[in-house]
Amino acid sequence: MMIAVLPGDGIGKEVTAQAVKVLQAVLLKSHAYEIREAPIGSAASEATGDRLPQSTMDLACAADAVLFGAIGVQENKQRVPGQRPSGGGGLLRLRKELNLFANFRPAYMFPELISASTLKAEVVEGLDLMIIRELNGDVYYGQPRGIEANPAGERTGFNTMRYSESEVKRIGHAAFKTARQRRKKLCSVDKANVLETSVLWREVMSQLQGEYPDVELSHLYVDTAAMELMRDPKQFDVIVTGNLFGDILSDEAAMLTGSIGMLPSASLGEGRKGLYEPVHGTAPDIAGKNLANPIASILSAAMMLRHSFDLEERAVRIEEAVRSVLRQGFRTADIFQPGAKRVSTEEMGDAIVEACRRP
Ligand code: IPM
Ligand code: MG
Repeated sequence: MMIAVLPGDGIGKEVTAQAVKVLQAVLLKSHAYEIREAPIGSAASEATGDRLPQSTMDLACAADAVLFGAIGVQENKQRVPGQRPSGGGGLLRLRKELNLFANFRPAYMFPELISASTLKAEVVEGLDLMIIRELNGDVYYGQPRGIEANPAGERTGFNTMRYSESEVKRIGHAAFKTARQRRKKLCSVDKANVLETSVLWREVMSQLQGEYPDVELSHLYVDTAAMELMRDPKQFDVIVTGNLFGDILSDEAAMLTGSIGMLPSASLGEGRKGLYEPVHGTAPDIAGKNLANPIASILSAAMMLRHSFDLEERAVRIEEAVRSVLRQGFRTADIFQPGAKRVSTEEMGDAIVEACRRP
């Protein structure tokens, strides 16, 4: 089995290094698992002129699972008027070419961190929801797109929101199956009062429900969903939505827990292969300072062991190790509370490795 590690930019490098240490500890340097690293983002672009070099793409294609850090530090600084968006510096291409169409973003409340949330404890205590975001379609990839000038020289920017029935079906099945393994409540989010894409989305989701009679399906418009997530997030179990709405709602949901530095994600396709990455970005303000929280990346590695390698027991061992260091009071700067033990990125990684090794 081969794991491709693409640390990327900013804190991506620092947190991924900790996740690799944890993987090595729980896999006990097993020869069955080989870890190979490749550049992506600014580091790759400095070396090869390409943010996603072919050699990195080849490694990601050949791998059984990909551990991804973060990219996109330079994005806004280098933007010139009318320039095409960078597509997340190659991330969007990677998702599409690897056929990873289902993005799982869990948001759960660690009891130890309840005071880190900006919401009242009673609103978020026990929160455990899963956002399933479609990742290969929508306005992210729809054609036509571009910026065009009319004869008078006025420019218009345009993108196309589109979903085929089969695209909605495959993400729908993934969502119903996930709900079935959880509390059996699925909320589909769209904007069917305005968009045809959403009308079709809603019809397909409703049809699919016939195959999952044990799952309760509800529908919300995306604006209402954004509001309900703040008002009463515990009403949700699984949320399924399109690429753009999912991008926005998953950041909102992550912040309910008060600590975007804690949340992992998995992008999956039809098989076992997946791309695992923290929900957070490159955090240029704290990059290179050994301050970042590596827990999201470490929990992403746990998701990898569970989904790509069927190593449930080792995934749980990592998750338990994270809980145990939090109980011992270890905190990186982002989740620091008075009275806790403030630790660096590396110290947090070491503490979790240590806890994984304890019987
Ligand atoms: C995410 C990010 C990406 C996205 C960007 C970096 C392209 O925001 O993974 O949520 O919009 O999908
Ligand atoms: Mg996003």
